[in-house]
Amino acid sequence: MKEINVAVTGGAGQIAYSLLPRLVSGETFGVDTKVNLRLIEIPQVVDKLEGTIMELIDCGFEQTGSLLATADIKEGVKDAHWVLLVGSIPRGIVVDGKKIEERSDLLKINGGIFTDQGEAIGKLAQEDAKILVVGNPANTNALIGRTKSENPAQSWFAMTALDANRAKAQLAEKAGAEISSVTNMTVWGNHSPTMYPDPYNAQIDGVSAVEVINDLDWVENEYLPLVQQRGKAVIDARGASSAASAANAAIDTVKAVDNKTEEGDWFSAAVPSDGSYGIPEDLIFGFPLTSNGQGKIDIVQGIELNDFAQAKIKITTDELLSEKEAVKDLLD
Ligand SMILES: NC(=O)c1ccc[n+]([C@@H]2O[C@H](COP(=O)([O-])OP(=O)(O)OC[C@H]3O[C@@H](n4cnc5c(N)ncnc54)[C@H](O)[C@@H]3O)[C@@H](O)[C@H]2O)c1
Repeated sequence: MKEINVAVTGGAGQIAYSLLPRLVSGETFGVDTKVNLRLIEIPQVVDKLEGTIMELIDCGFEQTGSLLATADIKEGVKDAHWVLLVGSIPRGIVVDGKKIEERSDLLKINGGIFTDQGEAIGKLAQEDAKILVVGNPANTNALIGRTKSENPAQSWFAMTALDANRAKAQLAEKAGAEISSVTNMTVWGNHSPTMYPDPYNAQIDGVSAVEVINDLDWVENEYLPLVQQRGKAVIDARGASSAASAANAAIDTVKAVDNKTEEGDWFSAAVPSDGSYGIPEDLIFGFPLTSNGQGKIDIVQGIELNDFAQAKIKITTDELLSEKEAVKDLLD
């Protein structure tokens, strides 16, 4: 069996609880790969990880390798092939006597976490390590982490796959089509309510979803808010944020990066912009991507963006630029 090292922050959180068994079961990295898992938590809760490790042992998967719990990011990411940065501080938490409600405060607090993590990953993880940021604000956390890693050989991603899966599900339901018939979904921009889940270039059985659905008013005025506000709708209904679907999307992203993309299709994740589609360079931006299955990820070129799409993409680009401005002290 091959062996890989996978590090996960936020190991005691609710997404991790759904995610971890699927990382060591053969489902994500293949049945012929043993996964050495390093779970990273803040010191206050690191002891809880012992319980998680007991459960992972009790699952009895033959692909489960060594299991480690640590509050030391350096120990956690050393020699890691994949790093899943799930842990972050949620809105509403009290820090130094102040309740954190503003996005700008959230950006700074989480940004502080991602500077240390980025530095450790750049120095200690594998030279070709892949890093997926799930913890919010995911794109800007990834920008900070990647900048601080000072290691351009490693590949950073921020997760937009949950948005893409939500968007596919809404289109399939409206069209009365099987979910598997919806392909070519791009979530352009930020993982936030400004994202643009592109219905024009998404396809249902090879035809533009907008054409198949044939209801422009629904597409432009109902579908977009449905997808953009889906996270809030889940919180309102469940009393807690999306966890099983977020874990599933993280696994979808790892598999999409590690395996060759099906001919003609693409997948959605945020990566450092190379200037494609006029997006400022290095901004961590949701794009349509393909993988050759050997570590090479390309931004799909030549996708047509109509005026509606361009207006939406400008809004999400401006938001990412303002987030970058809010954390500029952390990017020096
Ligand atoms: N990108 C997406 O699509 C998406 C979707 C859903 C949730 N999220 C985000 O994922 C994150 C995790 O969600 P959750 O529901 O599991 O939250 P949670 O609060 O249940 O768990 C987060 C865990 O992270 C830990 N943590 C905090 N700082 C850490 C650090 N410096 N190092 C290691 N661990 C640390 C906390 O102790 C906690 O156990 C949140 O930021 C959430 O907003 C992103």
